[in-house]
Amino acid sequence: CMVRHYKFNVVLKNTTRLCSTKPIVTVNGRYPGPTLVAREDDTILVKVVNHVKYNLSIHWHGIRQIRTGWADGPAYITQCPIQPGQNYVYNFTLTGQRGTLWYHAHILWLRATVHGAIVILPKRDVPYPFPKPHKEEIVVLGEWWKSDVEAVINEALKSGLAPNASDAHTINGHPGPVPGCPSKGYMLPVTPGKMYMLRIINAALNEELFFKIAGHQLTVVEVDATYVKPFKIDTIVIAPGQTTNVLVTTHRGGGKYMVAASTFMDAPIAVDNVTATATLHYSGSLTSAATTLTSTPPKNATSVATNFISSLRSLNSEQYPANVPLKIDHSLLFTVGLGVNPCPTCVNGSRVVASINNVTFVMPKISLLQAHFFNISGVFTSDFPGNPPAPFNYTSTQVTNFATKQGTRLYRLAYNDTVQLVLQDTGMITPENHPLHLHGFNFFEVGRGLGNFNPKEDPKKFNLVDPVERNTIGVPSGGWTAIRFRADNPGVWFMHCHLEVHTTWGLKMAFVVDNGKGPNESLLPPPSDFPKC
Ligand code: C2O
Repeated sequence: CMVRHYKFNVVLKNTTRLCSTKPIVTVNGRYPGPTLVAREDDTILVKVVNHVKYNLSIHWHGIRQIRTGWADGPAYITQCPIQPGQNYVYNFTLTGQRGTLWYHAHILWLRATVHGAIVILPKRDVPYPFPKPHKEEIVVLGEWWKSDVEAVINEALKSGLAPNASDAHTINGHPGPVPGCPSKGYMLPVTPGKMYMLRIINAALNEELFFKIAGHQLTVVEVDATYVKPFKIDTIVIAPGQTTNVLVTTHRGGGKYMVAASTFMDAPIAVDNVTATATLHYSGSLTSAATTLTSTPPKNATSVATNFISSLRSLNSEQYPANVPLKIDHSLLFTVGLGVNPCPTCVNGSRVVASINNVTFVMPKISLLQAHFFNISGVFTSDFPGNPPAPFNYTSTQVTNFATKQGTRLYRLAYNDTVQLVLQDTGMITPENHPLHLHGFNFFEVGRGLGNFNPKEDPKKFNLVDPVERNTIGVPSGGWTAIRFRADNPGVWFMHCHLEVHTTWGLKMAFVVDNGKGPNESLLPPPSDFPKC
C-alpha cells in the first residue's frame, strides 16, 4: 500500500458565476476542489493550511477513520478548528474501502464551496464487479448563492427564520444557462459507442436532487462507496452527502444531450431552485448543433424518487458480502424534525429549531472526542434518549407543544455493540425529507415506510439479506427508515441531517463508542499538531 501526500491551501478566490463575481473560500483556488485519488488500504496525509479569516476543519465524508477519529473533521465534535494562519495534517488509512466519496469543510457553511471528490480505486489486480469503463468522470453537484454564504446563514440565525434559497444549482461548478445569464455550462466530451462511469456526488447544502441525461439510461452500480446489484433507470435521486456511480453507454451516432440536476423536495412548503444543466458532447458534433433536451421531474415527484430508492440492493456476493447485524444490542427510535423555540431577540419572538428525540443539540466549546479521550468532565452527558419523550402521532402537524429541549447529550455504546435505529420523520411544522449522515460507520437500511413506524408489524418485513449499505440515508417525508450497524470503531461519531440548514438548527447528535479489549480496538492518541481551541 502507498502513502499519498496532498496539500490543501485554503484560500479566497474571485469567482464568476451567474454573471457576477465574488471571492469564495476554495481549496487551492479551485471550485469544486481537487480530487483525491488513492487505492483501497492506502494511507492519505493531507496538510490543510488555513489562509482565510474563518476557523476551518475538513471532513472526509464516508471514510471510516478506524481508530483515527482525530482525522474525521467535524469542528467541535472530533477536533478544535484550524484557526486562521494555522495548519493540520489529516492522516488516515482507507481500510477496506473503495469507491466514490468526498471531502468538505465541516464548520459554518463553508462546505458550500470547500468540497471535492475522493476516488478510491480497488486494490491493484482487483477488478470492478462490472465491465471496465472506457473512462471515468467526476460529476459534483452543488449550489450557488450570489451573496456571501456565511452572511446568508448568519442572517437566518439572527432572524430565527429560514435562510434564503440558493440562486442556482451547479454541475462541476457551473449552473449552465439560466434566465438573465446565458453562460455556458459544464461540457462532458464523449466518444460514440463507449461505456463511461460517472461518479456523482451531491455537495449541495440544502437540496436533494434528481439527476438525468437526455436520451441515455443510467446503470447504477455503487452508492456511498458500496457496490449494489446493477439496475437501469433514467432518473436517480441523490441527497446531500450521498454519492452514486452510474454506467452510461454512448450511442453509435453523435449529438449533444442535456445533463440536468433539479430539486427533489416533497415537503408541502417546497422551494424550487433553478435546475443546473450541462452537456454530454459527442466527439465530432458541431458546437452549434442543437442539444437534445430533457424535462426533469416535478420537485414533488416522490414516485420517481421511490422508484430509484426501492431498487437499491447490496451486491452481497461472495467477495462483497452484506454483513447485516442479526442480533441487536440497542434498539433505538429517533424522531427527526423541526420545531419552534422562543427567541426574544428574533423576528416573531421565536426561532425555527430542529431536534432528534426533542433534543436540540448544543455545540460544545472543546471537541467531544478530546473530552471523551482525556476524561474532561462537564463537556457532554451520556444520556441521549434512545426513544422519543412520549409516543404520539409523529406525522401529524402539532400546533402546540413543539418546543424542544437543549443539550449536548451523547448515546454511549460498548465496542462491537450492534444497533438498530429507526429514524422517524415528524411533521411538527411540516414533514420533510432528512438525509441523515452517520460518521465513522456504514449502515444497512433494512426497512422504510410511510406514516408512523409500527414496532410489531414493520420489522417482519425487514430485508436482512441484501439491504443497501450506505453512510447517508434519506428519511422519507412523513415516514421512517430503519438502519443497522455494528459499533466496531471507537471514538465519538457525529450523526446529523446533511441539509446544512437543519444541522445549523440542531438536527444532530453523537454516539460515543468506548475502546474494546483487543489490541486493535482502541482509539489511537491525537497527533502532535492537533489543533487547540
Ligand atoms: Cu458530510 Cu458530518 O458530514
